[in-house]
Amino acid sequence: MRTPRPDGHPGLADATRGRILFGGDYNPEQWPEETWQEDVRLMKEAGVNSVTLGVFAWAKLEPRPGAREFGWLDRVMALLHGNGVGVVLATPTSSPPPWLGRLHPDTLPRDQDGRTEWWGGRQHFSHSSAVYRRHAAAITEDLAARYGDHPALTMWHVNNEYCTYDWGDEAAGTFRRWLRDRYGTLDALNSAWGTAFWSQGYGDWAEVLPPRRAHYLNNPTQVLDFKRYTSDMLLECYVAERDIVRRYSPHVPVTTNFMPMWAGQDAWRWVQEEDVVSVDLYPDPRDPFGAQHGALVQDMTRSQARGPWMLMEQAAGPVNWRGVNHPKPPGLNRLWSFQAVARGADAVCYFQWRQSRQGAEKFHSGMLGHAGEQGRTYQEVSRLGAELDRVGGEISGRHSACEVAVLHDWHAWWAGSQDARPSREVDPAEVVRAWHRALWEAHIGTDFAHPEHDLSGYALVVVPQLYLLTDAAADNLVAYVRGGGTLVSGFLTGIADEEDRVRPGGMDVRLRELFGIRTLHEWWPLDPGEYAGCDGFRGTLWSEEIEAGDAVAHSRYQGGELDGLPAVLRRGRAWYVSTLPEPDALRELVADVAAAAGVRPVLDGLPAEVEAVRRGDLLFVLNHGRDPVTVAVPGTHRDLLGRRRVTDSLELGRYGVAVLSP
Ligand code: GLA
Repeated sequence: MRTPRPDGHPGLADATRGRILFGGDYNPEQWPEETWQEDVRLMKEAGVNSVTLGVFAWAKLEPRPGAREFGWLDRVMALLHGNGVGVVLATPTSSPPPWLGRLHPDTLPRDQDGRTEWWGGRQHFSHSSAVYRRHAAAITEDLAARYGDHPALTMWHVNNEYCTYDWGDEAAGTFRRWLRDRYGTLDALNSAWGTAFWSQGYGDWAEVLPPRRAHYLNNPTQVLDFKRYTSDMLLECYVAERDIVRRYSPHVPVTTNFMPMWAGQDAWRWVQEEDVVSVDLYPDPRDPFGAQHGALVQDMTRSQARGPWMLMEQAAGPVNWRGVNHPKPPGLNRLWSFQAVARGADAVCYFQWRQSRQGAEKFHSGMLGHAGEQGRTYQEVSRLGAELDRVGGEISGRHSACEVAVLHDWHAWWAGSQDARPSREVDPAEVVRAWHRALWEAHIGTDFAHPEHDLSGYALVVVPQLYLLTDAAADNLVAYVRGGGTLVSGFLTGIADEEDRVRPGGMDVRLRELFGIRTLHEWWPLDPGEYAGCDGFRGTLWSEEIEAGDAVAHSRYQGGELDGLPAVLRRGRAWYVSTLPEPDALRELVADVAAAAGVRPVLDGLPAEVEAVRRGDLLFVLNHGRDPVTVAVPGTHRDLLGRRRVTDSLELGRYGVAVLSP
């Protein structure tokens, strides 16, 4: 049954049809056809209902220029369909065949030093190459024409983890085109880039280049625009292929998979073009904050999707790309899968179905590992598949928004990460992570939002750091607080305008008024391991010499040059935190601000290692610890997983999960 979305395009619900999708990338081209039979048998046993086909199959589909080898794919599609496994069909355009690079070297990207990225790995395509785009469109068109109506097809997966940059000559041309669209004239570009500095004034468009290797620091606005442009070029590639597949199958949703917190794509912009938001997520099983990393990415993805989303890839066991690649201890794969479902995932999928025996990823786990069907990984995967199959219908499609929003913006991230800034120790993404962690540890559910979004539905807005703030965003924050919202902001917010020009007074005047700051005299960044004493806590990374106006000092610096000056300011419902408090202190601060805004934890009295998440009227309770716990859950509930009634108190074993329904 089709559930049209407001924009008239199909959505994830058209692919899930009330279930949770379970499966992964399937690369049958790496295996003899006999193996396919075994694959399908084991998929069925494991509850797999969806596979992603063809992500890296371009050379198999088009072994010579213009050739088409669809026979093998016809047979795989039919086999999967006959066995009730739906297909997310990929356009293979992220890894062109070697012949394309050999015949058309201009399809290969160049790095900042002008060096070519050759074939032999993957993702060796220039987003700007007209020849690449033509070949990508042609294979996409033929795939869509052939499989657009196929009964196995549930979704299109365009390309894979768009992430390439290009500083080459053809890219220089598309960069100029992009800049002309943005600025219109060279005068406007010169003004935006501040080229009066260091004799950089441009007199001819032909002089304008991507920010290639220079003797000393590149122009920061040029670098910022190059990041904007790169995201937009990749998006053009996505949209071109999306439009092709849409013509053949208007009722089939289209996605492309994001990397988590990936700097290369302005995800807020991208999701406007996607029918389904999907992400690949690989927390390190050894990372004590692996679950928080998962929660952050899931919160971000749900917020981008504004509803259910797809976990396109995770690992059933170890990955192969860390220095040391740890397996998942028993139960962790299930726990992290349900964590994603709790946060709105309606698809739990893996890279990849069957672990490869050759190639660069032969030591990356699969759902079916080298140990085969008796292996623990496959056994656990199969039990998870059965569980998701049993409870999926009661979960799929549900969505709830949170009362808190954390603001994050790619342009602010790009501008705030440039060279030659007050402290290289300040990584905007890590600052976001720190604030999200504080909320997570305080058991407060949170969404993410863009600074120009309508924030009026949120009781609390958290701004970890928005170094670059547009006028519209600054006005939005002020209006939000005027409208009754509570806002807390970290340091380095509102420093620069859209063109990375420092705001008069060193910080946007609207924000200074909002937070009751009369003068921001100086920043006092801290060295690694250095702390700023404050009453009640220690600050890290950063401190500031602020003269308060009509704000109240919630806490002050103690000792050192800033002794007695305000560290945390409050002016009504607006809070400003001029340092990064250590984690416990930041958690307490966030909990206080949330309480002042009337926001409560998801559940009271939760042990530190237990996470509670609401999805619709379901309550997911997840034990991230290795020891059994007892959790107070007032009232009577039905645990969908444990098939038990739970009254007031819930027992969870190591890595235990409960899904409580009223
Ligand atoms: C990414 C890619 C996959 C695979 C995995 C390995 O997510 O999309 O093709 O390389 O990484 O973790």
